[in-house]
Amino acid sequence: MSFPTHRPRRLRQSPAVRRLVAQTRLHPAQLILPVFVKEGAQEPTPIASMPGVVQHSLASLEQAARGAVAAGVGGIMVFGVPAAKDAVGSGATDPDGILNVALRRLADAVGDEIVVMADLCLDEFTDHGHCGVLDARGAVDNDATLERYAQMGIAQAEAGASVLGLSGMMDGQVGHVRAALDQAGHPDTIVLAYAAKYASGFYGPFREAVASSLVGDRKTYQQDPANLTESLREVRLDIEEGADMVMVKPALPYLDVLSAVAAESTVPVSAYQVSGEYAMIEAAAANGWIERERVALEALTGIHRAGAQQILTYYATEAAAWLG
Ligand code: PBG
Repeated sequence: MSFPTHRPRRLRQSPAVRRLVAQTRLHPAQLILPVFVKEGAQEPTPIASMPGVVQHSLASLEQAARGAVAAGVGGIMVFGVPAAKDAVGSGATDPDGILNVALRRLADAVGDEIVVMADLCLDEFTDHGHCGVLDARGAVDNDATLERYAQMGIAQAEAGASVLGLSGMMDGQVGHVRAALDQAGHPDTIVLAYAAKYASGFYGPFREAVASSLVGDRKTYQQDPANLTESLREVRLDIEEGADMVMVKPALPYLDVLSAVAAESTVPVSAYQVSGEYAMIEAAAANGWIERERVALEALTGIHRAGAQQILTYYATEAAAWLG
């Protein structure tokens, strides 16, 4: 009788051994909770395509932030849903605009206990729904948009955001916003570049979450899902321009990109488990087809294993409790 020489199963035989040899360990401090806040809302409004996620009022936002703090979540990323939109996204730069008001409130309430982050992009604020301003032909004007991003970044820094998440995918946005922040006396404001951001169908539910008015798509500025090396170029450029952190987005369909970016990035790498990734888990779990908590944690573990040091996830507060 001959015996197997190698028995990998030895290290899987009990919970105690498995725990000892686990290579990837998620920690609540690595999770970032994305939240939506709606101008004029008195009560939170459910988002049908993202069960359990809401458009917050200012009061319920503060409560959610306190819940995230209590669970040990590391960061909170705020998106604004303005009452009125226009061609240049005026609400984004108005100190009294909903996003800036919410940032100020969170910075005051919980700014010492959790990292307060702002989405820096115009799409929630423009009536045409694009991430930038348009030229006379109706195309997104890259360089005119940079000026708006600079003003938006300064408004967010002044409102108290510690981290600005530049998600617009305009060329030169990191360098331009960095210079504007420095000139305006905000050298410590951190820039998180959504460096590798794909034109993805997985953002579908997010469009409902921010009441997007977009007609058409973002394919002239967000990346083609077919491409990998382009992400390395975007990451390199963003780091050169001064990004303090970079992100890959979406997460699960782009683990190869995440792994390649993590292998060469000299700054922390994050990933965003986006609205459609969340909605898929929720829909399948609601049908009893998969186990909700188990699959959510497996997806987050996979994203971490592939190279993300921080993960933006709508599960952040819940996941922190599961991990606790
Ligand atoms: C742009 C932005 C989007 C998301 C985050 N920031 C939408 C888009 O680029 O179309 C999507 C996030 C998600 O789907 O959860 N401001």
